[in-house]
Amino acid sequence: MFVTFEGVDGSGKSTQARLLTERLRAEGREVVDTREPGGTEAGERIRELLLHSERLAPWAEATLFSAARAQLVDEVIRPALAEGSDVVCDHYIDSSLAYQGIARGLGVERVLEVNLAVTSSLLPDRTFLLVVPGDVAALRRGTSPDRIEREGDAFAAEVDRAYRELAEIFSQRIVVLDGTAKAEVLAEQIHGHLRDLP
Ligand code: TYD
Repeated sequence: MFVTFEGVDGSGKSTQARLLTERLRAEGREVVDTREPGGTEAGERIRELLLHSERLAPWAEATLFSAARAQLVDEVIRPALAEGSDVVCDHYIDSSLAYQGIARGLGVERVLEVNLAVTSSLLPDRTFLLVVPGDVAALRRGTSPDRIEREGDAFAAEVDRAYRELAEIFSQRIVVLDGTAKAEVLAEQIHGHLRDLP
């Protein structure tokens, strides 16, 4: 199965991605865990451009994210799924829909179209969206923000709203969870939501 985690910076999604990976491995499943942007040699170089460039035009940003994603799908995700492994990914297409499509105003439809093209329409079996109030996310964010985190609280709030909108559009695939719950409690809920998958 292909599972992705989404949420604003500070939502706790990376912790949950790690806990799920560990749990599935403990159950004897082969799991490939990866993250975006990055996860491949070319992708990590694109990540540098994305997070540390002085300025990027909105479509430059959107297409660089999709370029890194294209590489990750081709090099890591599809081969792993073909071998029968599970894949757990921290950020995927929904990140581009929320940050670039909605928060940057490029349009969900257009950003989705680009992303379906570059991934040959590979969508996750299940996506977990961790939501937290803005002040909690702000407190959890680190002290050395990257270019996107430096956009500040209003942008983070817009991304949060965008994610909730996506969860309504893709309600079959996206499960919304309270990111303020205890990590172990969340991990249990997440595991429970995967029972109906192969
Ligand atoms: P990263 O440190 O990898 O994520 P996080 O802090 O969430 O663990 O930083 C990636 C940043 O890029 C993060 O702010 C989310 C943003 N992003 C997009 O704007 N669009 C995308 O498609 C992806 C994958 C990430």
